[in-house]
Amino acid sequence: MQNLLTRLLRFLPPETAHHLVIRLLRVYQSLWDRIAPLRVTRPITNSVLGLPFRNRLGLGAGFDKNAEAFSGLSRMGFGFIEVGTVTPLPQPGNPRPRLFRLGRRSLVNRMGFNNCGLEKFRKNILRFRSRTPGLVLFANIGKGRNTPLENAIGDYEAGFRALEDCVDGFVVNVSSPNTASLVSLQNESFLKAIAGVAPAEKPVLIKLSPDLSDQEVTVLAQVIKSEKRIAGLVLTNTSRRLAEEKFPEGGGWSGPELFERSLHLVRLVRKTVGPDKVIIGGGGVSTRLDYQRMRAAGADLVEIYTVFVYRGPSVVAEMISSEE
Ligand SMILES: Cc1cc2nc3c(=O)[nH]c(=O)nc-3n(C[C@H](O)[C@H](O)[C@H](O)COP(=O)(O)O)c2cc1C
Repeated sequence: MQNLLTRLLRFLPPETAHHLVIRLLRVYQSLWDRIAPLRVTRPITNSVLGLPFRNRLGLGAGFDKNAEAFSGLSRMGFGFIEVGTVTPLPQPGNPRPRLFRLGRRSLVNRMGFNNCGLEKFRKNILRFRSRTPGLVLFANIGKGRNTPLENAIGDYEAGFRALEDCVDGFVVNVSSPNTASLVSLQNESFLKAIAGVAPAEKPVLIKLSPDLSDQEVTVLAQVIKSEKRIAGLVLTNTSRRLAEEKFPEGGGWSGPELFERSLHLVRLVRKTVGPDKVIIGGGGVSTRLDYQRMRAAGADLVEIYTVFVYRGPSVVAEMISSEE
């Protein structure tokens, strides 16, 4: 049934299909939340970030941008979900079309942080959170389109303050290629500024771009290693470089073509930060073998996005059956 639905969705324009799925998930979660008993599964034995992950596979940011479907998504078996990216104020994102399928495995998007803003986002989390026991929830936070770069830190601080009492942790998005100059915040002094406003009680991870050079990533990883308030990294976001040629007007590429670069960066960063920082490995993870290779390269947790769009929930069970 789920496979059939996933196939049928390919006949719709990609963003229409996405909105339909979010709607279906909302119906599904409200029905199941009413009638199905909540099951709390045992957390994995080696705790990560001191949080009770039931498995190490998560859904990357950008699928549930407004935190309105994570309860339904949680029932598909994910150990954790990143909701967002959320910005302080609601914003419509870039003009459509802004999401493109490439064959049957990859996507290019230039959504541009379309989201409902912090106030509604927080309400959504509070509304659905009690229905997701056993799910670790991260908020992925970003900068508003109209906020000048020099005031960006204020937007991230607003995200921390608005959500610190209702999520398990944060991912700081400084790597989306679809908000002008956002990627330039991937620098030493901005990461230190983030550490200066990060909550004391909740883990904060930094999400980086696969388009940074090895040397740039190594420098940032060294900063993160020395900052107590930064718990680790998410590697990686979509690639502007991969999309550039076919989409000169903008967009970031996701899917299997990203995998080897992300895997390489996970290995590199693990060597640089040592065992004490947490790495979430993602970017093109598409098979059980990819999942296992990410883990072997040093990722504590693994996340997917594009393969879930094309293959639906069956891929979750397939990947987590490979471990624990
Ligand atoms: C349509 C779409 C929207 C996305 N939106 C966000 C976002 O809002 N914030 C973010 O940090 N990453 C976003 N991403 C990036 C994913 O979270 C993920 O890092 C990236 O797609 C690479 O993983 P994948 O190859 O498994 O998809 C988005 C990706 C796609 C395809």
